[in-house]
Amino acid sequence: MPYVGVGAQKASTSLTGTPMVKAYIAIAASLVVVICITAIGVHHSERKFNKYNKVSIDDIHQSDARTIQDNIKSENIKKYLRIFTKDPHIAGTDANKKVAYAIASAWSEAGLEDVHTLPYEVLLSYPDFENPNSVVIKKSSGDEVFRSKGVSPVIIPDEQSGKYAGHQWLAYAGNGSASAEVVYVNRGNANDFKNLKLMGVEVKGKIALMRYGHGFRGDKVYKAQQAGAIGAILFSDTSDVAQDGVESEHVYPKTIWMPNEAVQRGSLMHGDGDPLSPHYPSKKELFKGRTIDEAKEESVLPSIPVLPVSYTTALQILKRMSGRPAPSDWQGLVGGNLTYKLGPGFLNGEKLTINVHSELKTKRIRNVIGYIRGSEEPDRYIMLGNHFDAWVYGSIDPNSGTAVLAEVARAMMQTINETSWRPARTIVFNAWDAEEFGLIGSTEFVEEFVDVLQKRAVVYINMDCIQGNASLHVDTVPILEHIAIEAAKHVPNPSKRERDRGRKTVYDTWMKVFPDKKAGVPKVRVPGGGSDHAPFLNFAGVPVINFNYKNYSTFDTYPLYHTMYETPFTNIHLMDTEDLGVHRAIGQYWAELAKTFADEVILPMNTTHLATIMIRSYLPQLKASISGINVSRTDFEDIRTQYALLSKSAQDLLTMSKKFQETMQFTQHSFSQNPYDPKHVNAVNERLISTERCFINPRGVSKHNPSARHVLFSVSDSDSYSNSLMAGIQNAIDGYESSPSKKNLQEIINQISIVQYSVICVVNTLRDVI
Ligand SMILES: *[C@@H]1O[C@H](CO)[C@@H](O)[C@H](O)[C@H]1NC(C)=O
Ligand SMILES: *[C@@H]1O[C@H](CO)[C@@H](O)[C@H](O)[C@H]1NC(C)=O
Ligand SMILES: *[C@@H]1O[C@H](CO)[C@@H](O)[C@H](O)[C@H]1NC(C)=O
Ligand SMILES: *[C@@H]1O[C@H](CO)[C@@H](O)[C@H](O)[C@H]1NC(C)=O
Ligand SMILES: *[C@@H]1O[C@H](CO)[C@@H](O)[C@H](O)[C@H]1NC(C)=O
Ligand SMILES: *[C@@H]1O[C@H](CO)[C@@H](O)[C@H](O)[C@H]1NC(C)=O
Ligand SMILES: *[C@@H]1O[C@H](CO)[C@@H](O)[C@H](O)[C@H]1NC(C)=O
Repeated sequence: MPYVGVGAQKASTSLTGTPMVKAYIAIAASLVVVICITAIGVHHSERKFNKYNKVSIDDIHQSDARTIQDNIKSENIKKYLRIFTKDPHIAGTDANKKVAYAIASAWSEAGLEDVHTLPYEVLLSYPDFENPNSVVIKKSSGDEVFRSKGVSPVIIPDEQSGKYAGHQWLAYAGNGSASAEVVYVNRGNANDFKNLKLMGVEVKGKIALMRYGHGFRGDKVYKAQQAGAIGAILFSDTSDVAQDGVESEHVYPKTIWMPNEAVQRGSLMHGDGDPLSPHYPSKKELFKGRTIDEAKEESVLPSIPVLPVSYTTALQILKRMSGRPAPSDWQGLVGGNLTYKLGPGFLNGEKLTINVHSELKTKRIRNVIGYIRGSEEPDRYIMLGNHFDAWVYGSIDPNSGTAVLAEVARAMMQTINETSWRPARTIVFNAWDAEEFGLIGSTEFVEEFVDVLQKRAVVYINMDCIQGNASLHVDTVPILEHIAIEAAKHVPNPSKRERDRGRKTVYDTWMKVFPDKKAGVPKVRVPGGGSDHAPFLNFAGVPVINFNYKNYSTFDTYPLYHTMYETPFTNIHLMDTEDLGVHRAIGQYWAELAKTFADEVILPMNTTHLATIMIRSYLPQLKASISGINVSRTDFEDIRTQYALLSKSAQDLLTMSKKFQETMQFTQHSFSQNPYDPKHVNAVNERLISTERCFINPRGVSKHNPSARHVLFSVSDSDSYSNSLMAGIQNAIDGYESSPSKKNLQEIINQISIVQYSVICVVNTLRDVI
């Protein structure tokens, strides 16, 4: 482990090793002492780390970590999985309330402290369960030639016989019917709409038919509505979800591929959190800042009816379409050799109608929270989280994660009960509600506790669901990249096949499947949206790690995603067939990370890496965007001058970080001779923990989305699943390009300066004096 057992130096030495005149050193040192005593020192005057030298801390860390890992058992994960996935449990329903209480009772039984629920009243959406949605095709004579059932069939009765499990719907879809010609818009992303227009096909007044994949469904529908569509249909293409063919021997339940009447459900909200309470928590006693009409006017919620369909239903539409053939990269495999056409409309004068029954309802949701109090620094939180609400049974998304998290909690408590281990910092367990509707439970929580989190949260580690069995996959911020990679080296490989090939750890397979060949490490990116880590990073500036296991392919997700066939059979017999070994490995990695953050004396946060990535990657990307702006030479010089200043600040950050880190390494070496000084350690950790917060601009970085406040990382406006870098600058560039004016030019410079300001904030945070 990189930073294990870092000791202290005397408070009279500078933290960063910056050469300074003596007087400054004395002032700095005494400031540190004062701060530490008032803040934390009183409560934690004695630390158990004092008793050990570096080597033994290492050993103890590893042996306790191994014990926790060994205590994580597949049979328990299986048991939890069955409990949490017994019934369909959509957020806001009684069935989901039961799951919340089942989680709370599992955690309490294991011995977590202060287990309780945190309620919010939020706007959710439901279909009419007595009256399924439908796609209807009629001849010009009025005779019906096709009507979809709107309900997927039960395939494994033991697990799927819950009431209303099969309903095919999308949350927040507009209520009503639409009859119009259909047009095909490929994946429904910005380029697709642009290209369709170039090909002379108008979306206005039509029903947009779009394929799932390569982007968030809510963004597709948002763009369709903006383009004037009066309805939309989303379908799963067999080229994505049934790659070996649609015959029964090639699909579920024989394989993991999607069967012919399955559909992907999901939310269409364009934005995160309760649509009626932007920036503030939806507590019963607080006022809601937005009305439903406003949410629709602002396109947070769609107004048009939208429906998800199976590839079998999609075939009924695609085979009837008239118009030019779609471009080759818009073609899929529905109907085998069928050529997809652009429309508009059908051959033979047939007419399409979609009927969507959809209702908005304010409902109570509940997050579940529980603690293992830290013995040394109880006010520093290592937060682990997963959501528990599902579209149907949710045994992959999200309850593979819920079951694993419950087992991590249990295994940690077992270790505490049976050994002398207890984490030094507090580990907080979080089960979020209503994530599926738009990260609602976690967003409301972060909005409610943002100040406390900014003071206490060290890291938020998210695992939504297992998506495949090929490899670990991790997204994180630069300061945590090294530790996220290091932890994987301590987790045994769950795959026999991989072990047989000499790849002993999860890291070894990760490196093979997702390598960053140039850097010689696994590929790690900054997470976008799509799960509960987003509000922690983007709104509160809490560094996050988001991880899972997935297949080799870069396709968004797994074929049975959000279908009613996500029941334990799929986990046990299709996806993770070696006794849930992948589920277990996921738990072991989660526990390993949690324990590392909880117990390492100096927090494993690498600011040098942040500086390096800025210089090597972020700034060149920014430079490229700037060079592409169509401006006069003198205006360009003004932008470039500010860019150069930002670049210099990044260099300052690199220099400062290296000094800061050298000091830590120096202390590491001399630890066994030097008495350990908790005040020094506290001061170092205080600075490390503050660095990510520097990037939070309370004024926000995007006019469209004021809850995006991180100046480096935001959820992308065009695809909520991905990350966009320095969105404030990018938005300013876009603003200038659509309306070139002096004011808009200055806004670009201003936004570059805001990023620079944040970088200087980190430099100042690491420095001894200000
Ligand atoms: C597609 O066309 C090829 C040759 O044209 C044919 O061999 C194949 O059977 C067709 N597949 C389907 C599913 O129709
Ligand atoms: C949905 O629309 C139908 C008619 O199109 C109407 O009867 C029904 O009341 C509406 N439901 C809601 C919840 O608005
Ligand atoms: C740990 O001990 C507590 C207190 O005796 C008990 O309630 C809890 O069930 C134990 N947990 C485990 C996982 O053994
Ligand atoms: C997993 O990835 C492999 C390699 O890209 C691909 O052949 C296979 O179809 C994928 N399976 C699933 C279920 O995505
Ligand atoms: C891994 O997943 C694939 C489907 O993507 C499945 O065919 C295979 O059996 C699984 N392997 C294990 C060991 O679970
Ligand atoms: C921190 O990051 C720098 C730059 O990438 C790297 O050289 C160094 O080894 C890292 N330190 C640790 C402890 O991971
Ligand atoms: C650049 O801007 C000028 C006027 O400001 C305009 O005439 C020219 O067409 C633009 N070039 C491009 C490539 O957009």
